[in-house]
Amino acid sequence: MKIIVFFFFLVISVISDNAGCISTSKINSNAVTLKDAFKDAFLIGAALNAAQIQEKEPNAAALVPLQFNAVTPENIMKAEIIHPKWDTYNFDLADKIVAYGEKYRMKVNGHTLIWHSQLPSFVKTMNDADSLRQYFTSHINTVAGRYNGKIFSWDVVNEALEEDGSLRKSIFLQKLGEGYVVEAFRLAQKAAPQTELYYNDYNIEQPKKRAGVLALVKKIQEAGVRIDGVGIQGHWRAYNIPLKEIEESIIAFSALGVKVMFTELDLGVLPNPWDADAADVNMKAEYNAKMNPYQQGLPDSMQAKLSDGYEALFKLFLKHKYKISRVTFWGVNDGQSWLNGWPIAGRTNYPLLFDRNFKPKPAYDAVIALKK
Ligand code: XIL
Repeated sequence: MKIIVFFFFLVISVISDNAGCISTSKINSNAVTLKDAFKDAFLIGAALNAAQIQEKEPNAAALVPLQFNAVTPENIMKAEIIHPKWDTYNFDLADKIVAYGEKYRMKVNGHTLIWHSQLPSFVKTMNDADSLRQYFTSHINTVAGRYNGKIFSWDVVNEALEEDGSLRKSIFLQKLGEGYVVEAFRLAQKAAPQTELYYNDYNIEQPKKRAGVLALVKKIQEAGVRIDGVGIQGHWRAYNIPLKEIEESIIAFSALGVKVMFTELDLGVLPNPWDADAADVNMKAEYNAKMNPYQQGLPDSMQAKLSDGYEALFKLFLKHKYKISRVTFWGVNDGQSWLNGWPIAGRTNYPLLFDRNFKPKPAYDAVIALKK
């Protein structure tokens, strides 16, 4: 009898060990994944780098189709890559992400048509307005036209606003005037009638910048031009997420009849040199060891903050699931995140749900647990 009881407990303990293993550290084909857990709520996306688009990274190649049903190219559709010279377009990798989306039935979001950063040098150095207008028109016509109906959506204009909600003093504003945002959507609508059209920006949960977005969206709508959604980038700090403001923006944007998306989500755990939320890729600060405290690993206390932060955010997203159409992470795993290099080069950050070995982190479990 004693022997039978002993074997009974042995079997039970082996079963429960395995169960624990599945939920915390390994994804197997039976485990619930992000895209399945949230399928009744919103799409779950990831930004892919060039290697991932080409399935050159075996771990990412296996994980991405399992976990995500939407993808955004992290860089390869930006003007400096897709349109490096007046008459030279580089569609190779953009075509590949379209094929990738078809292969795995994922929604592809084009990022981005009109943005002041990562512009090709022939545009950066342009002096006359006529040339810029010619670039602007042919860029939108050619790029948006090529992928009409082949990609699901475009970030037509990215980051057109200053923190106070006024139009950013970009080359586009300076040379083309205030009407350029409406004009970009008008051209995109014509070139890509079967693709959804979005405005995308960071810090637009903050009241002044939010008001700027509301004014822009109304201006586009009043001009009789189509805008389908607003993307809130979502580069926040795990220990300082502006939940109240985020909720207010979800409600305010959706009241204009457009979809709301979280398009570039990552929660940094490192100190910010300006103690502020920002995502301007042109901002840079000097390295010093104090600004890179977790080189050897993330302490449990910060791991817990990250997990709690993601849990609170996804709770909010679920509360507003009828207004939110997609939540996209800006990267697949921590090791590949742009936040290791921005705004200070050479740091070790931990902003995503998968660690450097593609293992789901406690934050992943916390997010999945909301749907159990
Ligand atoms: C970042 C990329 O992740 C980096 O690889 C690149 O060096 C700079 O741009 N807002 C955006 C994204 O809209 O395109 C930016 O992506 C991050 C901030």
